[in-house]
Amino acid sequence: MGKGVLLLLFLVLVVAEAQLRHGPTASRLTEATPTHLHFYFHDTVSGKSPTAVRVVGPPDASSQSMFGMVNVMDDLLTEGPDAGSPPVGRAQGLYMGSDQAKIGFLQAMNLVFTAGAYNGSTLALLGKNCPLDAVRELPVVGGTGAFRFARGYALLRTHWFDFRTGDATVEYDVYVMH
Ligand SMILES: *[C@@H]1O[C@H](CO)[C@@H](O)[C@H](O)[C@H]1NC(C)=O
Repeated sequence: MGKGVLLLLFLVLVVAEAQLRHGPTASRLTEATPTHLHFYFHDTVSGKSPTAVRVVGPPDASSQSMFGMVNVMDDLLTEGPDAGSPPVGRAQGLYMGSDQAKIGFLQAMNLVFTAGAYNGSTLALLGKNCPLDAVRELPVVGGTGAFRFARGYALLRTHWFDFRTGDATVEYDVYVMH
């Protein structure tokens, strides 16, 4: 190879490296801003208009872990713990019994915001939720709108649970970089 070709190769590499470091994608990620979201999730499985419905029961009806159960939800999200407090969005997706030893769900959902600064934006969460644990952590795997490039995690704590009906209110603390 001639010296001219080597020099050209060297310059191409320098330019490519600079683009990787300072290109639009890299700068978006390094300038990511942290956001903390706090709201309440209402899982209503009872009554005339449930917002979470069981589409498949556990194949073994006596299963203590509910292994194999699938629920689809369009659950209300509110600012405060009361279901009548101002709405902030909906949690749309599913949770299914995927642990044979205990009640443990695979939960896959979009948090669809309908008010405030994040109205129209969504966050995608996918993770394990053991509803009887005091604190559950779910990864935030992406987002849209104001939450493009989102990465983060959500901490879930049961605020209220009705053993008779199965209805529950869960406190969400979501931390995202976007
Ligand atoms: C959210 O955005 C939609 C569409 O732009 C709008 O119709 C609605 O009024 C907004 N909601 C709130 C609470 O700001």
